[in-house]
Amino acid sequence: MTPLAPLLSVRGLTAIYRGQRGVVRAVEDVSFSVGLGEIFGIVGESGSGKSTVARAILRLLPAPPAEITEGEVRFGDTVDSVDLLKLSAAEMRRIRGAQIGMVFQDPQKALNPVLPIGAQIGEGLRAGATFASSIGRSAAAFKSSSRTRTRR
Ligand SMILES: Nc1ncnc2c1ncn2[C@@H]1O[C@H](COP(=O)(O)OP(=O)(O)OP(=O)(O)O)[C@@H](O)[C@H]1O
Ligand SMILES: [Mg+2]
Repeated sequence: MTPLAPLLSVRGLTAIYRGQRGVVRAVEDVSFSVGLGEIFGIVGESGSGKSTVARAILRLLPAPPAEITEGEVRFGDTVDSVDLLKLSAAEMRRIRGAQIGMVFQDPQKALNPVLPIGAQIGEGLRAGATFASSIGRSAAAFKSSSRTRTRR
């Protein structure tokens, strides 16, 4: 049996940040592959570029100041795999949230205590068209459950 191609294959990924004090080469020539069902961890000291790699894969780097200068991110274990870095923003929105996603670090700081949880959880998913209607319903359910809790 021919082994499956990796689900995710990052090749030669290089990303920089252009700042007032010059260019930070945050990620330089990073390559790795992740197979279907495989759990893969990246470990490194603070500032070594872990989040930059993850955000680059999901096309969530803020540009400017960030720029992916080299590399490819092949996603999909079939012959139809795509280079995520070459997709249009609209194509990427269809894949992000539906087939590939990210749990951001420090969720306690990422969540805003003055906004309803449903609105916050639904925000990222509403941005992706695929789940829009079901997430709208989930957000409504969260909203009504948080109202119930506040009334108690
Ligand atoms: N918006 C930005 N502008 C300029 N430089 C940045 C920006 N974001 C990150 N960097 C720089 O890029 C490098 C990699 O940062 P990154 O956040 O990817 O590291 P990390 O491994 O995720 O760190 P941590 O473990 O603290 O989360 C660091 O030198 C950081 O200062
Ligand atoms: Mg990080």
